[in-house]
Amino acid sequence: MDLWKISLNEYNNYDNKKYETLFTLANGYRGIRGALEFSSKGNRGNYIAGIFDKSQSQVTEIVNLQDPLGFNIYIEDEKVDMDECVLDNFNRELDMQSGVLNTRFIATTKKGKSIDIRCERFVSRNKINRWASKYELTPLNFNGKVFIENYIDGSVTNGAWDVMNKNKHFKVKSIFDSNPGIALTIETNDNNMKSLELTTLMGENERGNIFKTRRYSEFGETVSEVYETYMTEGKTATIFKYGISLSDKDMKCDLFTAGTSELKDFIKDGYGAELEEHKKIWRKIWDEIDIKISGDEKAQLGIRFNLFQLAASAYDGDTKVSIAAKALHGEGYKGHIFWDTEVFMLPFFIYTRPKVAKALLMYRYNTLKGARENAAITGYKGARFAWEAADEGLEVTPKWGFDYDGNAVRIWTGDEEYHINSDIAFGIVEYYRATNDKEFLVNYGIEILLDTAKFWQSRVEYSKAEDRYEISSVIGPDEFHEHVDNNVFTNYLAKWNIEKALFFKDWLKTEDNVVYKVLCSKLGLNDEDFKLWDIMAEKMYIPKSEDGMIIEQFQGYFDLADIKITQYDENEMPVWPDFEGNKLGETQLIKQADVAQLMIMLPEEFTDEVKKSNYEYYEKRTMHKSSLSPSMYSILGLAVGDRQNAYKYFMKAIFTDLEDNQGNTDFGLHAAASGGSWQSAIFGFVGLRVNKEGILNINPWLPEQWEDLSFNINWKGSRVSISILKDKIKVDSTGKITLNIYDKKYLIDKEKQLVIAR
Ligand code: BGC
Repeated sequence: MDLWKISLNEYNNYDNKKYETLFTLANGYRGIRGALEFSSKGNRGNYIAGIFDKSQSQVTEIVNLQDPLGFNIYIEDEKVDMDECVLDNFNRELDMQSGVLNTRFIATTKKGKSIDIRCERFVSRNKINRWASKYELTPLNFNGKVFIENYIDGSVTNGAWDVMNKNKHFKVKSIFDSNPGIALTIETNDNNMKSLELTTLMGENERGNIFKTRRYSEFGETVSEVYETYMTEGKTATIFKYGISLSDKDMKCDLFTAGTSELKDFIKDGYGAELEEHKKIWRKIWDEIDIKISGDEKAQLGIRFNLFQLAASAYDGDTKVSIAAKALHGEGYKGHIFWDTEVFMLPFFIYTRPKVAKALLMYRYNTLKGARENAAITGYKGARFAWEAADEGLEVTPKWGFDYDGNAVRIWTGDEEYHINSDIAFGIVEYYRATNDKEFLVNYGIEILLDTAKFWQSRVEYSKAEDRYEISSVIGPDEFHEHVDNNVFTNYLAKWNIEKALFFKDWLKTEDNVVYKVLCSKLGLNDEDFKLWDIMAEKMYIPKSEDGMIIEQFQGYFDLADIKITQYDENEMPVWPDFEGNKLGETQLIKQADVAQLMIMLPEEFTDEVKKSNYEYYEKRTMHKSSLSPSMYSILGLAVGDRQNAYKYFMKAIFTDLEDNQGNTDFGLHAAASGGSWQSAIFGFVGLRVNKEGILNINPWLPEQWEDLSFNINWKGSRVSISILKDKIKVDSTGKITLNIYDKKYLIDKEKQLVIAR
């Protein structure tokens, strides 16, 4: 098994959509779904992070832009269509090491002409506006005229698979014979944001150019160039397709002029040179992100897939975009950004690519205006981050959707899932803790901590009867229960958010008193507020069982029908139990980790005993109907000694998309599950955590078949390389660090490898 490659050896066009997601190529700036040029079955997607539009849809959504992949081969008058031809030797392979997608097959047309087709595609990590394909075409049993068509399709819509929600978010603005190539510019309906696709072909064999004539044409919303060539049996013709994508989101200039000049430069640099640079960058990225697992090929391949897709979904070049729940891989959840980013994906970036982590957090800073508006229009103060966000940070959660039986239901998450505020605060503290990036904290981070705390100040309710603060009518991470009071995840993290705001404002006061004063004046905060915050944090209500051992997910949860999971399907996932006449919300069944989630985020706040009893209680009631859930149970399971299930949950997480275990990979990557996969390996099996004193700890346990688990992390500016072998642990660091291993303290200095027995 090649542990860098995701392969597919059978063609079944029913699966095209799923593989379009799995084979998406992205570079943080944009994503192109892994569509096959020679099949019209599927759901092509071309997205640029940050290009959103609402027009006639329910809420604003990521725009599926004009499609630049168009490429047809005509052998005389027969088009090579994968769904019409006989196919042999079909193979697709995503080479994750170099970020290249390969497709190969032999197509035989109805008239019996066979052609061997090999395509290679990449979306450059070097120059983010460049992408390219290489086609190697070999006639196997004919000589004759072949026409190659290169086209850009502007008739694209969002939601092409769902007629009731299909929307076209742009108008084709202009079409050009651009010399070189063809160009198509679009403009979004609401904000008039423009984007340009520009492509051309260069064809050669050993004697040079192979094209005889070129015909340019425009049909409706499509622009095309067709080249005539003559092909000889057994001789390979190589065609390069060069692509440039630009948008005025990042470039305030004439897109067409900039695009043509960039395309010329690309041709001058050459396909091969750009590919080399692209591969070089991926090598560097892998050096930062890879997790090596020896002794378990399935786990190795699976974890790499998640690391690859996460790293492909973000870059440090734009602080106004973040990673959507489905990343740049599809239109699921309308390209919206959730807590998935800060709680599930961000740790991966903090520890492996901190500059990207910072850019992701800056997106929240840059959308504070929207968050403040969300608070104001719902009657609160401070900043209320949107449960689902797009370009401006305004709440864009749809109000209506469908339940599991297809009935229309009101979606309350945008109204009630407030915990997103503390999740973002959590991301900031976690980032600072691992990087010591004071500049970020002073200039941006603390403002978010304070303004989210200010929101909580206006949102909590004081109960005079109980002398405590409460938060009523919310949705916690478990979305099966709506309008609940005092969800512990929400309350606990609101309390934590307030405490951190207090702690860091004190820190700022001595660190930079001017910034402190300016901030207080900007946010309208003074010592009276801070005093009150202290009391609120202290008196926040946290419901628990009588003996204090089990946290009650929300007030009244223990009184619900106690239905537990008793059966598991062939994939070892829970089967819906009989609700015994209750509605789902009237039972104790939960959608995903909730109390467990809290214990993973704040491991230092709970004793091992409490963690264990909560894990045992909630694990039996968690349906894992969100892909966010299994990785979290794997981490908590390892913390409390449930090793067997931990491995099972880890494998579920890393194969979420590769095995399509939520059944909706067609619509994009489960990016939070990818982040959870990293966490499950590092926070789970390695047991990496930062203790209350801010010291890094590891406490590894490996499944029997794992011979070695190796990875790198960044810790306060040092790069730390850790290898966990069967009988020893090896640690290298580029700077001085303190590391606790199985609770014993070690000082590690640069160039002095620490080796200890296990
Ligand atoms: C989960 C949320 C998650 C969202 C986007 C929902 O099904 O319940 O926790 O944020 O999906 O991934």
